[in-house]
Amino acid sequence: MSLTLSKKLHSLLTSSTRVVVFTGAGISAESGVPTFRAAQGLWKEFPVEKLATPQAFAEDPVRVWQWYCWRRELISKTHPNAGHRAIVRFEGFFDDFHLITQNVDGLHGFAGSRRMLKLHGDIWDVICSSCERSRLELTPVLSPLPPRCQCGGILRPGVVWFGEALPSRVFAAAVEAASKAQLFFSIGTSAEVYPAAQLPQIAKLHGAYVVEINVERSALAHIAHEVLLGKAGEILPELTGCLRDTPQGLALAGA
Ligand code: OAD
Repeated sequence: MSLTLSKKLHSLLTSSTRVVVFTGAGISAESGVPTFRAAQGLWKEFPVEKLATPQAFAEDPVRVWQWYCWRRELISKTHPNAGHRAIVRFEGFFDDFHLITQNVDGLHGFAGSRRMLKLHGDIWDVICSSCERSRLELTPVLSPLPPRCQCGGILRPGVVWFGEALPSRVFAAAVEAASKAQLFFSIGTSAEVYPAAQLPQIAKLHGAYVVEINVERSALAHIAHEVLLGKAGEILPELTGCLRDTPQGLALAGA
């Protein structure tokens, strides 16, 4: 694929210091992780209200855990793709870079991204419903279900469910990053879930140049300054390719 960048985007890409990348399930689609709202998406096949709400967990924690164990196992067989890896290169390139993700699959971290704002938590974390202690649990399928904390409480997946608030410090940091961004990329998200979907709008309101990368126009496309239609795993490496020949890119290559 050969992407022709607009002059404006090329200029901002090579001169901006404050850059935000905001990702959704589409960035992991090429790794084989199902998205949520496509024809074959998770929410078409599985009822959200039975699997991803606090009420569902209170009613039947085993059913909810079986579904999360299935997803954990599926994700454990996948690997980061060229899109995730290009974002890692962004982190080294821009002085003030923020990756804000709605994804819980952990693939950004496995690719090597270090500074992440995870708006919806992490499927590899478990949190005790009683004492609220959290820890990383990388064994995909837990047994017996539901898993229990040392304190005897029931462990829950470390993700944000429908009807729950986002982690307040993480969201505040995301709003701050969006407000300061010169360049804001919204990648592989339908931009239908709030409050996360406010972020591109906040960025635009504060003067950022907003670019959507998606295989189709999302709910946010009408506010974006540019929409790059195509797969994130193909477009993002093209963007990092543009950075290679800049003074900072050459310095990084020599480092
Ligand atoms: P969606 O499933 O709503 O949207 C995925 C987006 O990715 C769509 O706009 C696709 O067109 C796009 N897409 C698919 N393949 C792509 C590719 N290869 N390259 C670029 N784009 C591609 O997923 P999200 O927007 O992430 O919340 O959904 C937001 C939240 O809703 C999720 O975090 C999750 C879900 O319910 C929680 O679990 C709390």
